[in-house]
Amino acid sequence: MCGITGYLGFREAYPIVINGLQRLEYRGYDSAGVVITNSKKETNLYKTKGKVADLRSIVEKNDATGNLALGHTRWATHGEPNDINSHPHTSNSGKLVIIHNGIIENYDSIKKELTSRGYTFKSDTDTEVLINLIEEVQKQNNYKLGKAVQMALTNVVGAYAIAVYAIDKPDEIIAARLGSPLTIGIGEDNKEFFVASDASPFIEYTKNAIYLDDEELAIIKLGRNIRIRKIYDDSFVEPTINALKLNLEQIEKGGFEHFMLKEIHEQPHAISNTYRGRLLADKGIIKMGSIDNNIAKFLNAKRIIIVACGTSWHAGLVGEYLFEDLARIPVEVEYASEFRYRNPIINKNDIVIAISQSGETADTLAAIKLAKSKGAFVFGICNVVGSSIARETDSGAYTHAGPEIGVASTKAFTTQITVLALIALKLGNLNGELSNSAFQDYLYKLQLIPKKIENLLSINSKIEEIAAIYKDAPNCLYLGRGFNFPVALEGALKLKEISYIHAEGYPAAEMKHGPIALIDESMPVVVIATKKGHYEKVVSNIQEIKSRKGKIIAIVTEGDTTVKDIADHIIEIPDTEEALSPLLTTIPLQLLSYHIAVMRGCNVDQPRNLAKSVTVE
Ligand code: G6P
Repeated sequence: MCGITGYLGFREAYPIVINGLQRLEYRGYDSAGVVITNSKKETNLYKTKGKVADLRSIVEKNDATGNLALGHTRWATHGEPNDINSHPHTSNSGKLVIIHNGIIENYDSIKKELTSRGYTFKSDTDTEVLINLIEEVQKQNNYKLGKAVQMALTNVVGAYAIAVYAIDKPDEIIAARLGSPLTIGIGEDNKEFFVASDASPFIEYTKNAIYLDDEELAIIKLGRNIRIRKIYDDSFVEPTINALKLNLEQIEKGGFEHFMLKEIHEQPHAISNTYRGRLLADKGIIKMGSIDNNIAKFLNAKRIIIVACGTSWHAGLVGEYLFEDLARIPVEVEYASEFRYRNPIINKNDIVIAISQSGETADTLAAIKLAKSKGAFVFGICNVVGSSIARETDSGAYTHAGPEIGVASTKAFTTQITVLALIALKLGNLNGELSNSAFQDYLYKLQLIPKKIENLLSINSKIEEIAAIYKDAPNCLYLGRGFNFPVALEGALKLKEISYIHAEGYPAAEMKHGPIALIDESMPVVVIATKKGHYEKVVSNIQEIKSRKGKIIAIVTEGDTTVKDIADHIIEIPDTEEALSPLLTTIPLQLLSYHIAVMRGCNVDQPRNLAKSVTVE
């Protein structure tokens, strides 16, 4: 994880880098640091435990002038988060500086070797080992910096996105990646360059970006075109310059108190963007190039395996119900981290769908590589355009949700479900499992979802009132069935990750096999009881909770009367097909977690110990 960014050009570098770090803070926020070098080769390095704001307050009392800078915001892997372990790190001579996102797995043996050659280390980090390895390689061979970095990296096992410079050459940055993302922004006439984990730190300066690929190293020098080489075979790579579509408003809070709240409210728009140009209700078709171009593979698939982590895994579970119900295709949903190490049975006729908001999750990426090596066709559902997973998969569909910055995923979840619904509907219709009239009806109803979410969001204040009642609960249970079982899991995950309340999601009927033992008058139980989803069975579960004095917060279909009489609180959602209901039932659960977390004084957008983009295993 960790966010890295750097600037080389004609402007003051520090303001660009510190603002960039603020935008990358979703990637980690244990500590932050920055190094700045001016044209006289004077260098200042500041780092601190804590957030980018803490770093800012330290630097602003000191000198930070110069046109070259690197910055880092950290999610600790090696070494506890403290000032010394924060990046940037310097080499023993003090001449080389580095920022690094990733893990150098063989750092210990390299460290021993370097120690035997007289190197000393201030920190516990793998990164300080790497910068000294680069220094040693340079010293031994009298290499230029780019070559030294390249040769050092051939000795490294692990994952990295790095940026390195020599303080006596303040017109050059060397950047390289393997397994962690790295984007390079190019200013006009090569007069300035930006490096960053994603493009957000530099979108107001340039729309031209190169996404570095794995095993590539870039030599970024003022006044000249970027040179990219393959680290292992030394071949040259012709850079592809991409035009960025991101804009500044998309990554700002836009009047909301938190990114999470903004992103919850963006869902109607985000879902419309997901199906725009794909769901053509007037023509009665779903048009998706990535499916159309591979239609035979999809229609002949004996099985779909979905791999993902976290919230994306929950979207995958909804996908299982969608594919099986609408298209009658068997589905298995796998945690990417388990799948990659399990020697799974994968056949050529299997389709693997990898779901990832960031497109950078290390376990999902590794699962994709494994599936590909076994001959499977891998399809990606990602939000971040140009991300590693989007590029590693054989084909795929973007969710077009726009940047999701709050660490707790919201609009990514509903837009992933929208893509899965589009694919399942299309396949179901083409393979004859879904009649034309049912298909048309679904298209119509899917198109109504954004409007329904808009209406649903108006119950925000009611949910706030419920949140105030339960904000101090130590535990909470979430129950749902069928399509809404994954929503129960997601509701529980949302609550625990941002409010630190212990929460469990269960299939409602499983309650009697254990969780029921926990129910007493202090236990809030959130139950999803939509009219078309095994309603009577869930009502019985609600009765069972009631008779044990549990507090019931029920998510029901508009107009419900039965549950109203039993539950302590009712949250009504608009009617829709059960298969589409997760797009609605999720919304109140997101809001409930949000308000509880705010009332508990938690940092909603940056919950403790978490990071948005998990680029380590
Ligand atoms: C982290 C995030 C979650 C996310 C998961 C998978 O744990 O905090 O919100 O669901 O990673 O991330 P991905 O980017 O692959 O969807």
